[in-house]
Amino acid sequence: ESVNHLHRPSFHFQPPKHWINDPNGPVYYKGLYHLFYQYNTKGAVWGNIIWAHSVSKDLVNWEALEPAIHPSKWFDIGGTWSGSITIVPGKGPIILYTGVNQNETQLQNYAIPEDPSDPYLRKWIKPDDNPIAMPDYTMNGSAFRDPTTAWFSKDGHWRTVVGSKRKRRGIAYIYRSRDFKHWVKAKHPVHSKESTGMWECPDFFPVSLTDFQNGLDLDYVGPNTKHVLKVSLDITRYEYYTLGKYDPKKDRYIPDGNTPDGWEGLRFDYGNFYASKTFFDYKKNRRVLWGWANESDTVEDDILKGWAGIQVIPRTVLLDSSKKQLVFWPVEEIESLRGNYVRMNNHDIKMGQRIEVKGITPAQADVEVTFYVGSLEKAEIFDPSFTFEPLDLCKIKGSNVRGGVGPFGLITLATPDLEEYTPVFFRVFKDTKTHKPKVLMCSDARPSSLKQDKGPLAKDRMYKPPFAGFVDVDMADGRISLRSLIDHSVVESFGALGKTVITSRVYPVKAVKENTHLYVFNNGTQTVTIESLNAWNMERPLQMNEGAL
Ligand code: FRU
Repeated sequence: ESVNHLHRPSFHFQPPKHWINDPNGPVYYKGLYHLFYQYNTKGAVWGNIIWAHSVSKDLVNWEALEPAIHPSKWFDIGGTWSGSITIVPGKGPIILYTGVNQNETQLQNYAIPEDPSDPYLRKWIKPDDNPIAMPDYTMNGSAFRDPTTAWFSKDGHWRTVVGSKRKRRGIAYIYRSRDFKHWVKAKHPVHSKESTGMWECPDFFPVSLTDFQNGLDLDYVGPNTKHVLKVSLDITRYEYYTLGKYDPKKDRYIPDGNTPDGWEGLRFDYGNFYASKTFFDYKKNRRVLWGWANESDTVEDDILKGWAGIQVIPRTVLLDSSKKQLVFWPVEEIESLRGNYVRMNNHDIKMGQRIEVKGITPAQADVEVTFYVGSLEKAEIFDPSFTFEPLDLCKIKGSNVRGGVGPFGLITLATPDLEEYTPVFFRVFKDTKTHKPKVLMCSDARPSSLKQDKGPLAKDRMYKPPFAGFVDVDMADGRISLRSLIDHSVVESFGALGKTVITSRVYPVKAVKENTHLYVFNNGTQTVTIESLNAWNMERPLQMNEGAL
């Protein structure tokens, strides 16, 4: 079996070959970060899923261990699907995961380490008193999965959330247990919403309303908190979250009015990002997010390449000081991979100008840039009758469509003549109603590759969408920042210090390896200043699961 390296990321988490999807059971335990993930032992498409297992001291270098869980018992013979880890005092880490039985019914199971004193947690046991939860007659047994990390409450119960649906209503069930063995479903779901479909991979955690620097563990209780409920919607293949209030007595979660449930909701990432999961990192008092970025290439080429799927760079999650949304930032450890460095300061970019960032390896880089825009006088009017969907706006107003303030930003993975390029950019509108700027951020894969489609079916076509989100900033100081992590077929971008995040997967034909270029551009009539730009080569981690599996 050969693996094609042309588009293979160099500093993103992945195994040496084959298919991966959801991150599972992330945890920090006895000095090691553990990451499990959905892995196909046999090829580069979804199937034959087991829990593969890797450990790391720094979230950058990874050592692959033997798989933790694979189908072997009646309660998981049809699949060992996603789940989480909880550290239970006196017992150690316990996995909760979804097993699929012979009849394709989804069940919740638990697994325990053979030796909880082993920091590597190499061997896992599936006790015979599994499953811990089965769908009853009111529930949909083919839509009942992905248990969250459990938390312990003052009333002496552990609680976990399991994703589900009934007809088209998305549901998050709560299960309670005193001993982590016997689990009972709460009378009411903790939350549900009509017309949203299956809620895959729910995540439910508190954030602080007063401390915007540190994360909170799940069992934290105090007055100044809000909760986050995130779900992955299999209909849109995007994730959405709300901020809200969790009432532990009633076991109900009520989203704030200003964060809508469902398809208009907020997102962790507006691009190729799914089935994410957070964990609380005791070492650094932070909540860290993992998420899966699927390939966007044709299925045939995934198979030819011999690998498919990566995990994004883990991100810290905090409540924004506006208290209206979360903010995300790549974990600081990733900066240890920064090598050669170039900078630029106070450089004007006039309308139509494109400036090359030279002196680094543009296919494998970390770029941070702060733009000074100054006056927003020339900004286009945001016409409310036009469209509220950021994606539609980005489709029409691409990086080449001249504007007032913007489009400006980065041109990544590009050829010098722009036969191929992936632009990541802002466009600033004036909202005549609120008199505030309305900032659009796009990561547009449409011009990313010259590769021809193989046929009309979706599986034969490369997925080259524009992705977009609004950035909730007032730009009172006339500035906005952008950071992109570029890794051959990955562009992970953070607008305004992580208020809006977009990940794209792209497969250029010519803009590969040393033929790749990086530019800063402006296509708005308003001159934009690069106040500061810092760009680094990114080194390869010394160890990325080599030789295993
Ligand atoms: C999400 C998902 C989960 C499921 C797993 C199976 O990508 O569909 O709901 O547990 O993948 O691999």
